[in-house]
Amino acid sequence: MTSTRHNPLRDPQDRRLPLIAGPCSLVIFGVTGDLARKKLIPAVYDLANRGLLPPGFSLIGFARRDWEDQDFADIVYESARAHARTPFREEVWDQLAAGMRFVPGSFDDDQAFEQLARTISELDVARGTGGNHAFYLSIPPTFFPDVVDQLRKHGLAEAAGAWRRVVIEKPFGHDLHSAKELNAIVSEVFLRESVFRIDHYLGKETVQNILAFRFANGMFEPIWNSHYVDHVQITMAEDIGIGGRAGYYDGIGAARDVIQNHLLQLLALVAMEEPVSFNAYSLRIEKQKILANAHPPERLDLHTARGQYAAGWAGGEKVGGYLQEQDIASSSTTETYAAIRLDIETRRWAGVPFYLRTGKRLGRRVTEVAVVFKRAPHQPFSKTATEELGENALVMRIQPDEGVTLRFGAKVPGTAMEIRDVNMDFAYGGAFVESSPEAYERLILDVLLGDPPLFPQHEEVELAWEILDPIMKFWAGHGKPESYPSGGWGPASADEMLARDGRVWRRP
Ligand code: BG6
Repeated sequence: MTSTRHNPLRDPQDRRLPLIAGPCSLVIFGVTGDLARKKLIPAVYDLANRGLLPPGFSLIGFARRDWEDQDFADIVYESARAHARTPFREEVWDQLAAGMRFVPGSFDDDQAFEQLARTISELDVARGTGGNHAFYLSIPPTFFPDVVDQLRKHGLAEAAGAWRRVVIEKPFGHDLHSAKELNAIVSEVFLRESVFRIDHYLGKETVQNILAFRFANGMFEPIWNSHYVDHVQITMAEDIGIGGRAGYYDGIGAARDVIQNHLLQLLALVAMEEPVSFNAYSLRIEKQKILANAHPPERLDLHTARGQYAAGWAGGEKVGGYLQEQDIASSSTTETYAAIRLDIETRRWAGVPFYLRTGKRLGRRVTEVAVVFKRAPHQPFSKTATEELGENALVMRIQPDEGVTLRFGAKVPGTAMEIRDVNMDFAYGGAFVESSPEAYERLILDVLLGDPPLFPQHEEVELAWEILDPIMKFWAGHGKPESYPSGGWGPASADEMLARDGRVWRRP
């Protein structure tokens, strides 16, 4: 059985379909976890439904559960029914279900890995997976070294004439030192091009659109620099708290959880020079140059802020604070809000601060990049005419309500000259009939295709830690984060941080 076999799930009329993955399987470690159930499995189902997986595609679950293949298939079924993006189709399900296997065991269990090796060989014969297998580590990072070592020990990390790939979920280390250690362990076992680090923000359509927006159009790039841009605000606000993720989140906090990866990747895409092509090498080189030149100002006390949510409101209901969450010690100093200023020392960006902020339990869920422009050098209007005129801004709305907004001043209709801010809007929903695939659909497909541009290499990861390490160290030596009410917009110190620079945060 090979990928050329007739695949009933693929509509041959649709010529816009992207490449279909070749014969292969996906092995998920940590298949009982939240990420696997809510994101990975539904994404696999959606890919199958879109006809992008080969007919013999197989899915193997590995976890410490006393399950048979059928129990695993039942779990996959439930999560596909509950969380898939595309409609449920029996024939797709039947084809997928025929390739499902479960391997019970813990990560230090040699016998379990032997069984995994046997299962894989069996699938190569029965389903034609061709020796091509991707290992997805959706597990706590402390287990990465064990699993990678087991894969090596049991001959699973390489195969003659076939590919083996490892997919690593963040966090990639806890700081620069541990990130380097982790990388050393992984690169001893897997070739550089076989390691796929997931930053799911890079899988989002709106994040990829930053490149299209900047480099496919002629009118934005000429003003994308310190002559015209006053500053940039990158916001990732969430209205949810930590839910049941205390074990993961406490001790990690907002900066390590999302600034180190998602927000710094956004910064790199917004600030980088035009790559010579969109291949992985060219893209990574440009992103790395930005990350290598981005630094917080010296006075970290003035240019960073952190907070921890206290009791307040969420979704119209009264809620407790972070310290009241299940399994959180009342002495925890983990930040659930972080804001930092970064300056990028390049000709294009000298003197243009980039403000990054993220937080849980904020007023609403929104991720956006706002490029705020300098005021016109001269305004031939009376003061009263421009009283309500703000700064021009271009806002890339990453989610929800995906699109781009341009804010500028317009004359209020009437006899007087009065100018007020208005918005010009592009919304994905109104402009396109195609709906956006989920980030994990795109990324899992790219892993199976072996297509690397959307996956950061370890250089980017380490540069990001270099930016964050001094800030984390500074915070660790400066007591507790400031508390902020749930449902608000973060601690007062974050507003003060911008006010000192004569600026204000946008209220998205
Ligand atoms: C994850 C973080 O990477 O991103 C979570 O670990 C966060 O804490 C999540 O909630 C948000 O993702 P999204 O795609 O909903 O913005």
